[in-house]
Amino acid sequence: MNEQLNKLFEQAMAEVITSQQLHARWLNTLSMMENTGARKISRNEHPVFINLTILKHAAEEARHAYFLKKQIGKLGINLCPDYSWEFLLAPLSSYLYLHRLDLAVCRMLKDQWHFTQEQVKQGAYLLVTYAIEVKAEVLYGIYQKQLERFGSKINVKSIIMEEDGHLEEMTAMLEQFHEQWKVLAEVMCSIEEQLFHKWIEDVVMELPQPIAST
Ligand SMILES: [Fe+2]
Ligand SMILES: [Fe+2]
Repeated sequence: MNEQLNKLFEQAMAEVITSQQLHARWLNTLSMMENTGARKISRNEHPVFINLTILKHAAEEARHAYFLKKQIGKLGINLCPDYSWEFLLAPLSSYLYLHRLDLAVCRMLKDQWHFTQEQVKQGAYLLVTYAIEVKAEVLYGIYQKQLERFGSKINVKSIIMEEDGHLEEMTAMLEQFHEQWKVLAEVMCSIEEQLFHKWIEDVVMELPQPIAST
């Protein structure tokens, strides 16, 4: 993640954490996105040929959604009961983030790499998940630092540990998938970075204190 964007995200987190309402909506937004990821993995599962790694990954992403949702209870009662727009930060951008990533990679694999339909499906799943895992490490890392800085009761260390493992697993699966996986992964991460930038800018726009954008 580039330094300026890093800084913007860090400042946004500082503002979010210091407001009970904003923090609850942020946790709820992350929970919704983790849940979307978990459902995406499950949808992609083969009904017969599924291994322990994929089952573990799906279970852990679902756990992240649950864990983040549960943390909201530490901030107060009856905050953000579901994923309705009013309980999220930048709802449209947050909902569309994964979908846009998916769309961009499918287009790239089909038009520029001339993959077959099956390869596009498998490649999109691996590359989207990989890019998200790369970003998850940075995002949760910065968020955790800010949580500690403000002495919050919330911590996301267990998620960071599991996302670390996922990144290793996705790297191993991509190595098997294509010999030029590094080129594909690099393009994918730059697409993801643009979408992440847009998402964070939309989150920042909902904050009461203006933060200078990048
Ligand atoms: Fe996750
Ligand atoms: Fe993950």
